[in-house]
Parts: sequence; structure tokens; C-alpha cells
Amino acid sequence: MQTVFRGRHFITLKDFTKEEIDTMLDVSFDLKRKFAMGIKTPYLEYQTIFLMFFEQSTRTRNSMEAGIAQLGGHANFLDTSNMQIAHGESAKDTAVILSRFGHGIAVRNCFWEQGNKYITEMAQHSSVPVMNLQCDLYHPFQALADLMTMQEKLGDVRKKKVSIIWAYATSHKKPISVPVSQVLLFPRYGMDVCLAYPKGWELPDWVIEEARKFAEENGGSLTITHDEEEAYRDADIVIPKNWGSWVTNQSDAVVDDALEAQKHWKCTEEKMKLAKPHVMYMHALPADRGNEVEDSVIDGPHSIVYDEAENRIHTAKAVMTLLMGGK
Ligand code: CP
Repeated sequence: MQTVFRGRHFITLKDFTKEEIDTMLDVSFDLKRKFAMGIKTPYLEYQTIFLMFFEQSTRTRNSMEAGIAQLGGHANFLDTSNMQIAHGESAKDTAVILSRFGHGIAVRNCFWEQGNKYITEMAQHSSVPVMNLQCDLYHPFQALADLMTMQEKLGDVRKKKVSIIWAYATSHKKPISVPVSQVLLFPRYGMDVCLAYPKGWELPDWVIEEARKFAEENGGSLTITHDEEEAYRDADIVIPKNWGSWVTNQSDAVVDDALEAQKHWKCTEEKMKLAKPHVMYMHALPADRGNEVEDSVIDGPHSIVYDEAENRIHTAKAVMTLLMGGK
């Protein structure tokens, strides 16, 4: 078991070996059990983490805020529109100052071709761990919670078919970071990943190359299809979720003719019938109900979205404990 995490940044799970990710999961399960039993876990007493948000959040913000409180520490929530960043203060100056004040910095910045660069620049200048709360490319906390949830439900996830399926939504032009993080992580655990989307919603070529390499090294596989039914057929897990067409179209416009032509990419009860009888429906949330998915599916017997969301707090606590505490 690899246990040396203290002081490291958490920007993408690619920076961690599989053995290290196993440790994060092991600590997550331990913290979940202790939370259930009311056992106190004051692993980060008197520590402060700064949570910088350039965008809205429900799960990520509250899993980090509640999580650090349950570890004995404190979170400062920072809406970046109220920071001097809004007047142009640099990532470097912000990182140096906040790291002198506390013990960790976590940032959500999903702006296309900016977010990951911003968080990486903060990490270069921070003397405390910098954690990625979602950028334009990665959402490592979400992918870790997803893997934890699949392990909880399935035990051994090797050779299980997990389908990451694009879905129609009009709520906002969502980042690609969730499917990118999933397609890069699940093949490392030997899963058979099916990535399905209409033409125009490609993920970057380097993501596909890296995912294929992870699959080859770990006994998994990656199939890409533009046929939605192929993705549902015989799947153990389906993750139908919208992402924006950022790779092919950098416009901020949420709805356009290309999107409207793909309205039929919706998770329905009929499509779920193509999957294995025990298929599980997952979604990082928030879901665009009625567009991405029928209520009867997300509220139905195959849905595990609330267990998935709950695991955000256990994984958040594990990552903070390992990076900010420990040896
Ligand atoms: N899944 C997720 O990151 O949710 P929030 O946007 O609410 O944080």
C-alpha cells in the first residue's frame, strides 16, 4: 500500500499510481464506516483549506466544507468574483498568500483552455497542496467517487461494461472534465469502457490515446461508438450525461442547431431495457431532468445517483486527510 501523500497536489488522478488510488479508496471506505458509526475523525484539527470557486457548485463545495469540518478543520469559501482576482490579481500572488495563511487550497475553474492552466499555475507557487475541484479537463474528485460507488455495488469491477454516453441538455454548456476523468480512470481498473456520442462531441485525441494505453496496460478496453443503443446493450453501468462540444466548437452558446438535432440522445426506460437486468444508472449531478434523462429512470430502481453523490464527501475527506495530514 502506497501511503506517501503529504504535501502533494491533486490535479488529475493521472498523477497518482493505481496503488495510490487504491489507498485513497481504502481511506474513503474507512472514513465512510467511521462516519456511519459516529466515530470522530479529527485528522486535520486546526487546519484551514481555502475553497476558490469561479463557478457554481452544490456537491463539491459542500462535500469539502462539511468534510473538513468533520476532520476537525475549517474551510474558507471564496467566491472568486469577490476576490482581488476580479481586479486582475495573479494566480501566483493568490497562491503564495493563501498558502501562508493555511494548509490547503482547492479551486474550481472550468473556463475552457484556462481552468487547468490556472490551477497548475497556482500549484507551482503554492507551498500547500492544491486540489482541483473541477477544471476544463479534469474532475478527479468526481471520478474517484464514481469508482468508489462502482466498487461498492459490484465488488470487482474488472471486465464490467461501463458506458459513458453523451446526453442532450440545455441547462448550460458543461465541461468535458467528467467524461475525460472517467475514460482515463476506469480502464486502469480493467473495465470495458464504451464511449458514445454524436459526431461533434469528441473528447481530445490525447485523451483517447491515453485511455487506450491504460486499457492495454490493465486488461480493460475502450470502444468508441456513435450508436447510442450499442452503448446501452449489455451494459453493467450506464452514465448518460451531457458535455459541451468544446473540442470542435469553442462558442459559449448553450443551444444551437447542432445541439437541437441531438435531442433524441436521452436516457429512457426503453433504452435501459437493452442493458443487463441489474444495470445501474449513474450521473455526477446536477442532471437536466427531462432532457438528459427521464424522471422514471433517475428516480427508478436502477438509479444509484444519491449513493454516488454521497461518496463525494467520503472521497473528499480521504484526499484532504492524505494530502494535508498524515506523515
Ligand atoms: N458533480 C458535481 O461536481 O456537482 P457540483 O457541480 O454541484 O459541485
